[in-house]
Amino acid sequence: MTDRYAVIGNPVAHSKSPHIHTLFARQTGQDIHYEAIESPLDGFAATIARLREAGYKGCNVTVPFKFDAFRLCDRTTGRARAAQAVNTLLFQDGEILGDNTDGAGLLADIENNLGCALLFKQVLLLGAGGAAHGVVWPLFNAGPTLTIANRTAEKARQLAEEFSGYGTVTGCGYDALAGRRFDVVINATASGLSDEMPALPEGIFASGALAYDMMYGRETPFMKFAREQGAARVADGLGMLVEQAAEAFFKWREIRPDTHPVLAALRGAT
Ligand code: ATR
Repeated sequence: MTDRYAVIGNPVAHSKSPHIHTLFARQTGQDIHYEAIESPLDGFAATIARLREAGYKGCNVTVPFKFDAFRLCDRTTGRARAAQAVNTLLFQDGEILGDNTDGAGLLADIENNLGCALLFKQVLLLGAGGAAHGVVWPLFNAGPTLTIANRTAEKARQLAEEFSGYGTVTGCGYDALAGRRFDVVINATASGLSDEMPALPEGIFASGALAYDMMYGRETPFMKFAREQGAARVADGLGMLVEQAAEAFFKWREIRPDTHPVLAALRGAT
């Protein structure tokens, strides 16, 4: 029997997840059906209840429900608890199990696909909202020295304080970055959504630096800035999207798809 999965969001029509998981299933010979389901903003728990009733095996969760999903779980992984957010649910033995594969997806894309090891590198994370919060703990597993900078400096300082037990991390506003250089700069702000640019000082990219925008689908002002400022490599978040999906697929099906042909297919299509 075909096992059913879905991605739940609002809005969700634009989601590439059904296409990605369908390609994974075809590649690995798994008999699954994966669809996008829009949940009412005030009806996430009811949507999940309906899916469980209908026999779905699990789902992905996207904006704006990742925090609701975390609260709904009977059990969660350590990385989900660190993020206080869940993007992958498993419906198993009458329980809701929650994981967060976003950070692992980011790490796999930066370290494996882009070939940039983070150990002892100077890494700058831009933003202190949900997207940034979700990747701090996984980033620490790769061993960088981390600086978190945000438009609202106090939020960056609070985020750094929250994770100060895990590694070397400081939080600040954008102006405090003047005169500093970073090997990797990751944009986890929502600025690209409104075609805006975080107010970064010039000269923050070290020689050979990687600029990474967690958004995908178009060149953001941050990516343009990075090119103009001489970043050696500039990447969007499409690889992260595919990698977090592969990690979710592995949790559900216990088989790991090869992400490279899928990423190549998506790049060819965009
Ligand atoms: P998300 O879930 O996408 O992280 P969020 O939790 O609302 O969304 O957080 C948005 C992040 O993008 C915040 O870090 C926000 O900065 P503030 O905390 O100062 O609001 C950042 N952000 C949004 N628009 C921005 C812009 N135009 N320039 C710089 N940062 C921006």
